[in-house]
Amino acid sequence: MILEVKDLNAWYGKSHILRGVSFNVKPGEILAMLGRNGVGRSTTVKALMGDVEKTGEITFEGNRIDNLPTHEIARLGIGCVPEDRQVFPTLTVHQNLIMGLQSQGRDDGWTPDDAFQLFPRLAERAGTEAGSLSGGEQQLLTMMRTLMGNPKLILIDEPTEGLAPRMVAQVKDLILEIARRGTSVVLVEQKLTVALKIANRVLVMGHGSIVFEGTPADLAAREDVRRDYIEV
Ligand SMILES: Nc1ncnc2c1ncn2[C@@H]1O[C@H](COP(=O)(O)OP(=O)(O)O)[C@@H](O)[C@H]1O
Ligand SMILES: [Mg+2]
Repeated sequence: MILEVKDLNAWYGKSHILRGVSFNVKPGEILAMLGRNGVGRSTTVKALMGDVEKTGEITFEGNRIDNLPTHEIARLGIGCVPEDRQVFPTLTVHQNLIMGLQSQGRDDGWTPDDAFQLFPRLAERAGTEAGSLSGGEQQLLTMMRTLMGNPKLILIDEPTEGLAPRMVAQVKDLILEIARRGTSVVLVEQKLTVALKIANRVLVMGHGSIVFEGTPADLAAREDVRRDYIEV
């Protein structure tokens, strides 16, 4: 296991949001986390990154990280693409990618050229202010910038939300490429179809805890779980 989460509880002030969340991430896998709005998926991501008040054990590559500050967690190799896409709007596309490189360096890792080869549209706009890109392009740029830090595990929170089908397909392909290159992925998603297509395993959350864990095929066979915890 690259990541082991045991009995995670999290709070915002007095609101007890996560209640005993436990799961593992295997090396190189895409683990999708599904569930309706407000069940605690983003809070789980924030808890892993040390960004919310919590208890529980989080072990990354054999070492406890639940007491570390966010920047230490990132430095150990966990990248995070939060739900509010965060490009530096007044920096160029290329500068945004460089900002990602500065957080960590490795010779065999992702480079701005990888981003430009995978997404010719980003190459065309390398010198353009990132704030002028479309939502989908900003999403791809945020993901690529995070990859510049060469994370071993990347947490991606609702990357396809609000995107046109063509951009959804590109985000999907990028996630598959990330896993192919050896980085484990935790993908928070709302679109069941996306998760079923690219995930190796699926977790479903309901009201602050995990209510289902299995393969996409297992979930496809569980109409009750889909009805009670996913479909709106
Ligand atoms: N900063 C916050 N302060 C207080 N409550 C919050 C905050 N962020 C989220 N919540 C609440 O925590 C619960 C879980 O939210 P969240 O983890 O964002 O759900 P999801 O990502 O699954 O939609 C919701 O009830 C939400 O209203
Ligand atoms: Mg969320």
